[in-house]
Amino acid sequence: EQTAPLKGKKVLVTAGPTREELDPVRYFTNHSSGKMGYAIAAAAKELGADVTLVTGPTSISIPSGIAVAKVTSAKEMYDATLSRFSEQDVVIKCAAVADYTPTIVHHNKFKKKNDTWTIELKKTDDILQALGERKEHQVLIGFAAETENLEDYAKDKLIRKNLDMVVGNDVSKEGSGFGSDTNEIMMIKKDGSVKTLPILSKEKAAREIFEEVMELMNR
Ligand code: PMT
Repeated sequence: EQTAPLKGKKVLVTAGPTREELDPVRYFTNHSSGKMGYAIAAAAKELGADVTLVTGPTSISIPSGIAVAKVTSAKEMYDATLSRFSEQDVVIKCAAVADYTPTIVHHNKFKKKNDTWTIELKKTDDILQALGERKEHQVLIGFAAETENLEDYAKDKLIRKNLDMVVGNDVSKEGSGFGSDTNEIMMIKKDGSVKTLPILSKEKAAREIFEEVMELMNR
């Protein structure tokens, strides 16, 4: 069917930031609003797919007709994504997952005392890496948010994480990346082809991503 090319296909999208708790009143997070990931989920729905959105805390309302798993931490996002992976046809990892989390989570509010407070962080498990290692039939898409050497760093993520495509995002550019309604993206496929797009609304960028995803699915 022309209007529903993804009918019968299962698409999982991750979106938004994660929150890493330090104590009952404090956490580490980032500037992801969820707009890009939610636009991707909505685009997949429009194309007829059966969509699951794994989302960190955002203030956007969930598009209708989409299954949602709400998570808070990187660990929760890891579990929610990995447990659903085997049944998916396409997974797009747009979430801005914390790379580090506090080694100690205080049960009570940490009291103000000394002039300095040193916090130790440890690496979180890389969700995309774990998916890449377990990939069978799935088309796996990652994002790369960079402030320099975008194409090189994005290509490195594509190969290292065993992706079919990486969407590079120069997050230092005005109107691109975190929080904005627009995004300037570059798509690099595993065959080495590079497609650079002008600044677009996140909805339009999401549709462009699916043009490439559908091509990858038909291979
Ligand atoms: O939410 P918005 O405000 O609309 O902003 C959109 C966005 C800037 C968040 C989005 O376009 C974007 O670039 N998302 C990826 C952000 C990011 O964390 O990039 P990264 O280069 O640090 O990570 C690379 C990839 O690894 C990402 O697909 C990320 O989901 C994944 N990752 C990272 C760490 C981790 N522990 N597990 C992961 O899976």
